[in-house]
Amino acid sequence: MEKNWWKESVVYQIYPRSFKDSNGDGIGDIKGIISKLDYIKNLGVDVIWLSPVYKSPNDDNGYDISDYKSIMDEFGTMEDMDELISEMHSRGMKLMMDLVVNHSSDEHHWFMESRKSKDNPYRDYYIWKPGKDGNEPNNWTSFFSGSAWQYDEETDEYYLHLFSKKQPDLNWENPRLRKEVYDMMKWWLDKGIDGFRMDVINLISKADGLPSTSKGPAYDWGGEFFMNGPRVHQYLQEMNREVLSKYDMMTVGESPGASTEDAAKYANLDGTELNMIFTFEHMDIDSGPGGKWDVKAWELSDLKEVMSKWQYDLHDKAWNSLYLNNHDQPRMVSRFGNDKEYRVVSAKMLATFLHMMQGTPYIYQGEELGMTNVQFDSIEDYKDIEIQNMYREKVIENGEDHDKVMESIYIKGRDNARTPIQWSTDENAGFTTGTPWIKVNPNYKEINAEQVLSDSDSIYYYYQKLIKLRKEYEIIVYGKYDLILEDHPQIYAYTRTWKDEKLLVINNFSSEEVILPLPANLDFHTAELLIGNYEEAYATSLYDEKLKPFETRVYLFK
Ligand code: NOJ
Repeated sequence: MEKNWWKESVVYQIYPRSFKDSNGDGIGDIKGIISKLDYIKNLGVDVIWLSPVYKSPNDDNGYDISDYKSIMDEFGTMEDMDELISEMHSRGMKLMMDLVVNHSSDEHHWFMESRKSKDNPYRDYYIWKPGKDGNEPNNWTSFFSGSAWQYDEETDEYYLHLFSKKQPDLNWENPRLRKEVYDMMKWWLDKGIDGFRMDVINLISKADGLPSTSKGPAYDWGGEFFMNGPRVHQYLQEMNREVLSKYDMMTVGESPGASTEDAAKYANLDGTELNMIFTFEHMDIDSGPGGKWDVKAWELSDLKEVMSKWQYDLHDKAWNSLYLNNHDQPRMVSRFGNDKEYRVVSAKMLATFLHMMQGTPYIYQGEELGMTNVQFDSIEDYKDIEIQNMYREKVIENGEDHDKVMESIYIKGRDNARTPIQWSTDENAGFTTGTPWIKVNPNYKEINAEQVLSDSDSIYYYYQKLIKLRKEYEIIVYGKYDLILEDHPQIYAYTRTWKDEKLLVINNFSSEEVILPLPANLDFHTAELLIGNYEEAYATSLYDEKLKPFETRVYLFK
């Protein structure tokens, strides 16, 4: 397999609004990020993925961009951005920006022109259609509830918005639009950034004729007509020829609804499209048939099945990204671990479980602190447009039970991940001297950066160790994955194989002690324990060893 720096890297994601405020306005900013670069660097991280910092009216916290080449006032200036790039580069870190080009803001000048008249030169930058018998052009549903179409009086037509009505979809069929996007990407790359995380990039090509769907009612109603659409590979290959292939850079495409077959094309090892994609399959194992808010308990057997499928199917064909949370997902320790009694050990176990797989690992800000989900009493305390729209539709318009909907928000809501980073025990967790834009998680007195930095056994230092191992042992990056103990109800164990070495990764996903029934074909006499989350984990014989609650261990065999 070809070796590449982006396969060997570990990425840290920053959601700037919630990271660190430097000027007391209650909103994180670029200067705040600069002040914490050493904190990130000391983890051993190579790359930072920065969620959008561009000019935006903030209908969706920056994922609605009104000017791709300027910086949002609350976040700072272009000079701050230049300083961030150079401060990162001087520390040997790379910067991956968010590229949001499935849609723009309705306040982007392209859209303001586009809506003026049917013959405006920007009309075809967006997707406009006349209504059908007085209704929307088709029955697609927005990811943020309601119809995916918005009527516009000015020209008596509807425009498509797969997200909020302030996020009109760009028309990728238009070569002029595509060229504008490529030029903008080059402008940023020439400034010195090192890559792009591409927002919902597999949605850019919509099915011809935009047909109505007969499936539903799930959150992706209509998804079969806009996920992995007919010309998406053609556009990405063009982008690759025009832009990506000209730079030494890293790309990851967010891709809801992509299968491993799709991924084998998007992230093919020949490098004609992207380096890797974000799959959503493992994020869906706790969703029922009604979609995201139809919450069900997840099963370890499903996690094994999905993760293993991606490991096997992409091996030697494409490259995986590895994540358990981000700014759109609940906190991983609350979702897959135990955020009470076993918070610290289970956070370490989940980190090990993920970082030892084949692929590039992503750490979401606060994960290294073991930050947890939050429960606000009032719906007003939630700021996320997805939550607000869903609540309005379900409770206010359709009379569904308030408590039941709040419960689903506690489990699945995106604001779980968006509470301010807990830096210290100071007021507002040291995030701001002003009033934070969203409430701080009340557990900051116990969970904060000051604490983890002063405790050598903390989650932060555990990540540091994990990342160091990755730099030391090629097998962690390149080894082939194989699932073992497939049917075990509590243990998720796997091996990695590389040249004549083998790695054994054992994870107890339960709060019980369990016996480890290892297969007899592994020779444990030459095993070295690389990392574990309990003291004195090493055993001379691993056969019938007892694993403690949420215990994890990684052994190397030579
Ligand atoms: C995915 C982003 O991660 C999410 O935060 C955003 O709301 C949608 N795409 C729309 O841009």
